[in-house]
Amino acid sequence: MTTVSSGAGVVADAVIPAPVDLEPGEGVLDLTTVTIEAPDDVTARLAGELLAAAGAAVGPHDGVPVVLTPDPAAGPAGSESPERYTLTVTADGATVAAPGRAGLLHGVRTLRQLVNAGRGEAGGALEVGAVVVRDAPRYPWRGLSLDVVRHWFGPADLRAVVDLVGSYKMNRLHLHLSDDQGWRLDIPSRPALTKLSSEGAVSGAKGGFLSADEYRELQEYAAEREIVIVPEIDVPGHINAATHAYGELMPSGEATDSYDGIEVGFSKLSFDLPATEPFLRDVFTDVARMTLGPWVHFGGDEVLTMQADEFGRFVVLCQELIAEAGKTAVAWQEAAGPADDDAPDLVRPGTLLQYWDMRPDPAPFVRAAQVGARFVLSPADRAYLDMKYTPEHPLGQQWAGFVELRDSYDWDPAAVIDGLPESAVEGVSAAVWTETLLTRDDLFSMLLPRLAAVAETAWSRPEAKDWASFRVRVAVEAAAWRRDGAPYHPTPQIDW
Ligand code: ACM
Repeated sequence: MTTVSSGAGVVADAVIPAPVDLEPGEGVLDLTTVTIEAPDDVTARLAGELLAAAGAAVGPHDGVPVVLTPDPAAGPAGSESPERYTLTVTADGATVAAPGRAGLLHGVRTLRQLVNAGRGEAGGALEVGAVVVRDAPRYPWRGLSLDVVRHWFGPADLRAVVDLVGSYKMNRLHLHLSDDQGWRLDIPSRPALTKLSSEGAVSGAKGGFLSADEYRELQEYAAEREIVIVPEIDVPGHINAATHAYGELMPSGEATDSYDGIEVGFSKLSFDLPATEPFLRDVFTDVARMTLGPWVHFGGDEVLTMQADEFGRFVVLCQELIAEAGKTAVAWQEAAGPADDDAPDLVRPGTLLQYWDMRPDPAPFVRAAQVGARFVLSPADRAYLDMKYTPEHPLGQQWAGFVELRDSYDWDPAAVIDGLPESAVEGVSAAVWTETLLTRDDLFSMLLPRLAAVAETAWSRPEAKDWASFRVRVAVEAAAWRRDGAPYHPTPQIDW
């Protein structure tokens, strides 16, 4: 294995995101046939799948030992991240030590990339140089936010996205499940939502929705891989799918027409209607009950035609309903409220605000952090992976500018919001909106390679990040995308 140097020392030319510490040793391990030992069957199966995807023959006997061991002392000195791990490769075998399954899987994900680097384009020998990797993430929240409303992506696509997210050690998949064009999750207490509002999508495309069973199965699939699904029901705007299903949510009492355009900001709930609070209570109680993870996202973005006072009452109520249902609320940045010193504080301590629009005054976000809000950063000019790479790119939008790979790479989450203390940053989420993305290939070609850049920005400390090194590592990783048939955009910024 060759290595390239970065300012902070040696970084493997294979591992994305760049690890905290990597020390090459003497000798080479051949992983052609592998026997896995793990603390439980699920971890063993998942490790086997990762190494089989890299080309190893995984069997019960006589393979090279890959041993996964629970070990609270693993990881970089001083790290208390529950996801920390140490991967040790010698000529005789590989071990991953970690306090929990997340770290054990991360160690195997690193090993998968090292194997891939050795194989190269031609799919050669499964050889890995001796190495010790000690690693842990910078931020606990490393995710992708995915719009499944504007175009529908069903369970098989979503499992492929879970696998992709996991391969770069991301641990959250946030699903935008309701919007003007459709409602994508069955809500048992409100069956008309999916009955009347799930079939459509943008420009007459075919919609769909997750049944309660499909939602549970997807969450279980993700949870095995230590990825938490975060459901978003977007209120009080982006709500035409609900007002189409339930006319009682409109002041006129009349259901709205279905919508398959891509305008935003025209639909809203009305706080004072008698049907509104029971609707929100039913929906958020059901979503919370159906959700395995600790978070429920209530949207709150782009409510362009509502007075601040009414919007504030929605923000307070949604946090209350989600807390009563035993979950922590997440919302888009607008839930911080207006930049007005006299306005009441809207967010509760612990609520997560997802920052996306770089244009507004940062004062409300700094104030929300003082009240105890925490921030997930998705700055659109860096992390919105539905932005076109270049003006000529056939897919995507451009309201936040063009987002080339290096734009997704070269930023520091701690420096995004002026005046926000880094202690208020929970992490980073890439986001992809699907107005122009119809197929899994469309989606993956917008995610790859930029998702890898955002993943490294979320995981790796600034001193471990290095664009010159990342360019080499992305090109190495792309051999696996080509072998797996995962479409990616061959940006001219990389020597593929
Ligand atoms: C958003 O892009 N409206 C959150």
